[in-house]
Formats: sequence, C-alpha cells, structure tokens
Amino acid sequence: MSETAKLVLGEKTIELPIIKGTEGEHAVDITKLRSQTGYITIDNGYMNTGSCTSDITFLNGEKGILRYRGYKIEDLAEHSNFIETSYLLINGVLPTKRQLDFFNEKIVSFATLPSGITRMLDTFPRDAHPMGVLSAGVAALSAYYPDFLDHDLSDSEKDRAVAQLMAQVKVMMAYFYRRAKSEEPVRSHPSLGYCADFMNMIQYKPGYEVDHEVAKAMNVLLILHADHEQNCSASTVRMVGSSNANVFATISAGIDALWGPLHGGANQAVLEMLETIKKNGGDYKKFIKKAKDKNDSFKLMGFGHRVYKNFDPRANIIKKACDTVLTKLGVQDPLLDIAKGLEEEARSDSYFVERNLYPNVDFYSGIIYRALGIPTNMFTAMFVLGRLPGWLAQWREQVGSPTAKICRPRQIYTGPGVRDYVPVDERK
Ligand code: SDX
Repeated sequence: MSETAKLVLGEKTIELPIIKGTEGEHAVDITKLRSQTGYITIDNGYMNTGSCTSDITFLNGEKGILRYRGYKIEDLAEHSNFIETSYLLINGVLPTKRQLDFFNEKIVSFATLPSGITRMLDTFPRDAHPMGVLSAGVAALSAYYPDFLDHDLSDSEKDRAVAQLMAQVKVMMAYFYRRAKSEEPVRSHPSLGYCADFMNMIQYKPGYEVDHEVAKAMNVLLILHADHEQNCSASTVRMVGSSNANVFATISAGIDALWGPLHGGANQAVLEMLETIKKNGGDYKKFIKKAKDKNDSFKLMGFGHRVYKNFDPRANIIKKACDTVLTKLGVQDPLLDIAKGLEEEARSDSYFVERNLYPNVDFYSGIIYRALGIPTNMFTAMFVLGRLPGWLAQWREQVGSPTAKICRPRQIYTGPGVRDYVPVDERK
C-alpha cells in the first residue's frame, strides 16, 4: 500500500492516503474522512488545504520558486513572449513555430467586439472603474455566443473560447480606455504583436510609434502575471467553472475576485499608498509605523504573501525592470525612490522580518505601468490581461478532468439550536 497517515479519533484509527507531488510536496487525501469517521476538517482561508492536483504551475514559497509547466519564470521572462507563454500554460508545451503562428492567427481573428458589446461599453460612465466594465463586458459576451453556453464544449471549441477571450478582453480594455479619455477607438494591428498592438490601441496619436523597450517590458509584465496556481481568483474560476457555468461567467467571476485590494487590486493600492507618502513629504517611516500598529487597519500594500515566505521571484524581476525601463524611457519617478526606501526600511524591521513580509508582484509593477503611460485605475485591469491565460488554463484543466466534481465545501454550524416559530404578534 502507498504511504498513509494514521488518524486516531477516540477509539477509532483510520489510515488516509498520502499524495506526493512532482517536487516532493505531500498531502493527506481526506476524500474518505467523513464517510469513515463523520468528521470534516476546517481550515480558515484554506491556508493548509489543497483544492486539486494540477500540472500547470509550481511555486515554492520558502525558496521563491515559480515555474509554468516546469519552465522557470526567470527563463520565460528573459526568452519568451506573452503569447508563447500563454500557449505553454494552456497547452502544456512550448509551441512549435507553426503552432504559435496558428494560435496567433486564431487570436487575431477575434480582434473585434460584437456591436452590442461596444454599445454596452458606451453606456458606462467614462470614469467607471475598468474592473467593473471588464467583468460586465466578459459576462455579456455570453449573450452573443450562445453556442458556448453548452458546457460540454469540444476541445476545438475550448481552443476557440481561449483565443476569443485573449483577443476580446484586450480589445474591450483598449476600447474603454480610449473612451475614458474621450478618444476614438484604434483598431488592432496584428502585425505589431499582441503587446505592442495593445499599447498602440491605447496610446495611439498621430506620429506615435510603439517603443521596442515598452513592448518588451509589457511582455515581461504580462508573463510574470500569467498564472500563480490556486490563488484567490484562480480558485474562484475553478469554483464557478465546477458548476459547468459557461466560460464567460467563469472568467468574469475571476475578474471580480482579482479586483479586491488584498489580491490583484493591490497594484493600484500600492500606487495610491506611494502617492500619499509623497504628499506626506516622502515620510515612509510614518507608514511603516502605521502598518505595524494593530489598532490601525492600514497594511503596507504590495507587501506580504500567503505563499511566498521569502521573496516573490516576480517582484525581483519587476524591480530590476523598473530601473531598465525608466532609464530607457528617460522617466524619473520619485515614487520609485520612495518604494525602494520603503522596502529597505521594512526589510530591516523585525515586525516584517518575523512575519516574512516581503515585496510581492504588486509592489513595483505599478511604477512600470505608470512609466508606460497606463493610468492607475487601469493597473488591475492589466493584471486581468496578464492572468487571463492562467485562468483559462486552470478552467481547461478542470473542465477536462474526468474526476471533476462541483466545488461544495462543508461547514461546522455554530448558530442557535432548534427552536419553535413564534407568530409576530407574540414576539417581544
Ligand atoms: C496577490 O495568492 C496569490 O498567489 C496572489 C498573487 C497572484 O499572483 O495571484 O500573488 C497576487 O494577490 C499578491 C498579494 C497582493 N496583496 C497585497 O499586497 C495586500 C497587502 N498584503 C496583505 O493583505 C497580506 O499579506 C496578504 C493578503 C497578501 C496575505 O495575507 P495572509 O496570508 O492571510 O496573512 P495574514 O493577513 O494572516 O498576515 C499574517 C501577519 C498578520 O500579523 P499578526 O496577526 O501575525 O500580528 O502579517 C501581518 C498581518 O497583520 N501582515 C501585514 C501585511 N501582510 C500581513 N502587516 C502589514 N502590512 C502587510 N501588507
């Protein structure tokens, strides 16, 4: 028999199978716990609970390791591009030239939106938060592609859904961004490549040309954001997808979960925090003090991570890219100096060191987005664009699994015991 864990409950002892991962992680499989003992487990915030096995992303929080389908994030950031990495996440292998060209062509073929969707985008206030627009817009796509509502999609239909969403989310973002600035939309120019085309669609004005460094930086940023195993929004995608909801509803739910400032919304919150510190004379030590004060709800945004209890490898790459991109673009940003000072101060402060709180992916990313001319309220939408292939890979892995079940956690009830109904005129 494979390795097991013994659980002693009163007079009863049961053995539970141990599952081992590729990199030696261990899990106790409690699938049969309730049927054999009547007990369930409880784990606030799922800090110790695995929801699935997955072949997509491996991360080791203690060692600061992040790999997509076995490839190191550092190698992909240096050598790959966002569409190639998206193909890798979704299909499990690096594409041949032919496969990559075909994937690109498929994405390009969906580079327009149904007119009803653009009309809907036009009904939003120009200053609406892009995350609300994106969530609504993606869910609304289900009204225009009813053939995707049948949850038993064939593999080729899933491939189409992937390419369509990779294309239409980008177009939706660019359309709404231009509308927010009262500028006419710019159509896609596929020959530019996905990231350069996106930059052109949002920044174009006569004479504008996408800077090669800007396109490269955008590719690196989106690669770094592309997947992160069972984070809050990916778990939401799996939760919603497990009910066989259509892919548009499933991805829209992922967008909603990512919006929270404890998750993807942190990149916008970091910039707002740095701006506030700047307005306070750059006194970041005062904010370190606030973050440590248990009576103050303020947290150092962009710091800390559920899994990384050492450094977040993405933060290291983005921090280096900050210097390169801002220098290449000739941008001087005082917020970068404040961010570096804040990091240095926190890293030498026992409160942060004892709690393993280090900069995460969101701490420096906003500074690059700002240098690329992306407005702060679009930062989390940029996280959506990056994370989309990861969500789609997680969705495909789950809906394609023969053992997939609807996600329905149990609970321990702590409310009132049974009591009789009292007619309203007898209540005190
Ligand atoms: C992302 O999961 C993923 O993979 C997410 C992500 C991805 O790619 O999908 O990596 C993207 O969401 C990154 C995280 C972005 N969020 C932020 O930067 C918001 C600020 N960070 C925190 O809110 C917090 O660190 C979390 C939410 C990220 C993690 O929270 P946990 O794991 O639930 O940890 P916790 O809140 O229980 O904190 C443990 C201790 C507590 O102090 P004590 O009660 O032990 O005294 O550390 C403290 C916390 O108060 N703490 C912080 C802090 N983060 C944790 N104190 C001050 N500032 C912070 N940022």
